[in-house]
Amino acid sequence: MKKGMIKKILAVTIVGVMGLGLVSCGGKKDAKDKLSEIKEKGKLVVGLSADYAPYEFHILDENGQDKIVGFDVDIANEIAKDLGVELELQDMNFENLVAGVSSGKIDLAISGMTPDEERKKSIDFSDIYYTAEHGMLVRVADKDKYKTFEDLKGQKVGAQMGAIQAEIAEEKVPEANLQLLSNVNDLVLALKGGKIEALVVELPVAQMIVKNNPELTIGEEKVKDTEGGSAVGIQKNQEALLEKVNATINRIKEEKLLDKFIIEANELAEKQK
Ligand code: ARG
Repeated sequence: MKKGMIKKILAVTIVGVMGLGLVSCGGKKDAKDKLSEIKEKGKLVVGLSADYAPYEFHILDENGQDKIVGFDVDIANEIAKDLGVELELQDMNFENLVAGVSSGKIDLAISGMTPDEERKKSIDFSDIYYTAEHGMLVRVADKDKYKTFEDLKGQKVGAQMGAIQAEIAEEKVPEANLQLLSNVNDLVLALKGGKIEALVVELPVAQMIVKNNPELTIGEEKVKDTEGGSAVGIQKNQEALLEKVNATINRIKEEKLLDKFIIEANELAEKQK
């Protein structure tokens, strides 16, 4: 064999080995099976932003202890039950949930999260478990002034940071002056205090806020959820876990449990007045 040829073979082999190294690194990350990890540690860590009644919110239980409840929490409980592990909730800012899932800090995000294209670049989603429209909250005193998104032209409009309602507001309100905050409760305070003129949120949340804040009301115009509703966020390429989560969602649908969960969550949220 000629010297040149040997060099070539060597070079190809080295590149090949390097390539394999890269593949196996990438492969290793995916191969770290979340489902087995959850079963080994005996608990499922679910991240949520508990500022979103009736999806997830804080209450004081009968012993005066702070507790996170809501129909997303009920779904999380069912998933943990089906996996045979304990449930641990991690309350965090909504805008940090996607990173939490993709880095593996939390096992799942169950937080009324819409599986939109941007998020799908970093995480996977379960089947949709719930759909809702979006609406705008305004002060009762302004209800004739602000009926449509168009009426809010150039005004300060609030939305949750990292939530699709920020995009909806941007799209629907001409020359919107967007005011983004991490916590929906702070946005409600800003609206009541006149710091913003309207707040864009999912309709079931808006309805709950109005029940607990009679000085607020829902504007006439609503927005359909074109992206498809709420789904559970899961780390990419975790097929086994995804299958389990979808199986539980299916069971919840078949047993018609979600309606029951929603009614209970609404009752709990109203009691907190
Ligand atoms: N559905 C909206 C979104 O995915 C808002 C969800 C907000 N959830 C919450 N728990 N604050 O962007």
